[in-house]
Amino acid sequence: MTIEQLETLLSDMTLEEKVYQLVQLTGQFYNGEAVITGPADSDMVTKECVRQAGSVLNTVGAKNIKGIQKEYMQNQSHHIPLLFMADIINGYKTIYPIPLAQGCSFDPEIVEKAAQEAAKEAAAAGLHVTFSPMADLVKDARWGRVMESTGEDAYLNGCMAEAMVKGYQGNDVKEKGRIAACVKHFAAYGAPTAGREYNNVELSETTLFDEYLPAYQAAIHAGAKMVMSAFNTLNRVPCTGNEWLMRKILREDMEFEGVLISDWAAIEQMILHGTAENLVQAAQIAMNAGVDIDMMTSVYADNLANLIKEGTVSQRFLDDAVRRVLNLKNDLGLFENPYKDADEEDEQAVILCDEHRKTALTLAEESFVLLKNEGVLPLKKEDTHVFLGPYTDNKEISGAWSFYADIEQNITIREAVEEKGTARNACFETMCGVFSGIRQIKSFQGDLDIPYLDLDLDENLKKMEEKIKNADTIVLALGEHYAQSGEAASRTEIQIPNIQMDLLKKVHQWNSNIVVVLFSGRPLDISGIVKYSKAVLAVWFPGIEGGAAIADVLYGDAEPGGRLTMSFPACAGQCPVFYNELPTGRPFKGQEKERFVSRYIDAPNAPLYPFGYGMTYTSFLYSKVKLSNDILTETSVITVNVTVENNGSRPGTEVVQMYIQDMAGSVSRPLRELKGFRRIHLAPGEKKNVEFVIEEEMLRFYNANLKYESEAGKFRVYVGGDSTRENSEEFTLVRSQEA
Ligand code: BGC
Repeated sequence: MTIEQLETLLSDMTLEEKVYQLVQLTGQFYNGEAVITGPADSDMVTKECVRQAGSVLNTVGAKNIKGIQKEYMQNQSHHIPLLFMADIINGYKTIYPIPLAQGCSFDPEIVEKAAQEAAKEAAAAGLHVTFSPMADLVKDARWGRVMESTGEDAYLNGCMAEAMVKGYQGNDVKEKGRIAACVKHFAAYGAPTAGREYNNVELSETTLFDEYLPAYQAAIHAGAKMVMSAFNTLNRVPCTGNEWLMRKILREDMEFEGVLISDWAAIEQMILHGTAENLVQAAQIAMNAGVDIDMMTSVYADNLANLIKEGTVSQRFLDDAVRRVLNLKNDLGLFENPYKDADEEDEQAVILCDEHRKTALTLAEESFVLLKNEGVLPLKKEDTHVFLGPYTDNKEISGAWSFYADIEQNITIREAVEEKGTARNACFETMCGVFSGIRQIKSFQGDLDIPYLDLDLDENLKKMEEKIKNADTIVLALGEHYAQSGEAASRTEIQIPNIQMDLLKKVHQWNSNIVVVLFSGRPLDISGIVKYSKAVLAVWFPGIEGGAAIADVLYGDAEPGGRLTMSFPACAGQCPVFYNELPTGRPFKGQEKERFVSRYIDAPNAPLYPFGYGMTYTSFLYSKVKLSNDILTETSVITVNVTVENNGSRPGTEVVQMYIQDMAGSVSRPLRELKGFRRIHLAPGEKKNVEFVIEEEMLRFYNANLKYESEAGKFRVYVGGDSTRENSEEFTLVRSQEA
């Protein structure tokens, strides 16, 4: 459809028809099928609204969606098709590792590939838009939703958000196998006070601009067609009604031209936030702030038309919103083909195809972080291994946002090890459930039934005693339950359930050669686990090929390729703990007796494992950092060089990371900030030169006047294998007026 045709269509629509385009309902209103991720009342909208609503969420499947679309189109006087959206977070049916794990790969290319494959599957299943990427920066491991982010660093999150948008959308969303991306949750949803879900956010503008906005911006620059507003308040104003945030920052400064959708019932919830007195006012505030689509309430449907008629909301705002929705439908080619790629045969062909499973396997291996290894990994294939624990043969390894997956497709550790043929020396016993004696845990989808494993740990220990004592190595597959992370899953204690710690301690009495394979949706407090084990491999929720990837890594057929993108705290009381802190006026220098300094008296300041950290099966030697010049100007560059050598005996991949510290600024500057990274593969004995380029632009930040610019002065560049390495050099930025 041409722009002129679209404008004609818009001018032919009645006020009510326009308003209905801005309403989004779940599939439950059409044929009863939907995943419900928030409050839902089936009587909340009129039949007319259902008949004319502009988009549907969280219902999938080519046949299903085609059926709904067909019926809808028959009643649509302007032949405007419905848009179908859903949360395709870490895959549709082929489930990739959770986003937090994907970040740990430090490999945007494979993350883009996974997104592209997810888009292919979702498009064949009739979807047009995914509510992904979640570009929210996260620092507090208590917040359950950290699993859906790629971590605590603005730069890395930006790279990953961009990769996902490109993967979903390609160059043209109209193309077969492409879907539109909706970046969320604008803004700063990842910084709820005390890590409690949906809690308020207090951020200085400097921190908001410097750290929290860049990843959304990267996704928007990559062309994301949609943005979702956040549930939280930001400095006391709900994001969904925040005109400054939406009209000034998002639309004007970030130049976002696509569709802005509210999060689930977020417009209505402004009443509970105490910033709207009633639904009428909530509708008025949200539309004036620039929210185009109302997700899953009738606030717009019931109130917008009157607000326009009485002039409290301008007709222009309404028309702009509807135009954006129609544009998106047009960009997707839906006016020409309302079914786009929905096709039962294609579903059969692409869903769970070998290529997708292979990407899921590689990405899982690249996301595993080896936290500790005292010479026990990789396992020797000829040795005797006893695999114990609730994740030994457990298919619930897809993570909290994989509603459409069939977990029967997931490969468990047991299945993979048996298939590898190493099983002749391996035995498997679940020993206990993820929890002891719990059948249900609370989740945002209501009470979640946990298959109750009626296992008696003591009895199982007795049964396994001899095998445990005689084994060369014990592999304990432990972790939190997938529903303990994700939306509405904040925790104050972030350890594994007690029953599993009991298992670990008891096994340790008989055999201390223990490898823990740790499943989680967040960095956990694992000080206890570290104490009782010789190796710890963090595998997150690794997805469909999880067990196969774990077997490959344990037996050394693949290496643990990930590095942490969120610090692992030494204890929950440290949260939020993150690498790019601001300095304090009284830094703790590590002397035990220092008192009036910034420190805890009962815990270290440093996390247990920092951002960027991860061991490999080999070791790397770095040469001293070399700079091409110690002066940088606005027109010159500095090249940073290091030589990295694999001085171990196995091939390996290193993630070479470059951090910069601005030594003094008009506002306090972080101790370090990630500015570049490279994954390099080296054979034993092999050396590679790694080069980074520093330009003035990379040194810009929001200064005391909230201006985004660099400031002359000294900077320190660090290069190494994690965020604590001291290999560094200094340079000075000289700006033109001073040169
Ligand atoms: C979540 C969003 C999600 C939406 C639709 C909300 O509860 O916060 O991230 O996209 O539900 O399922």
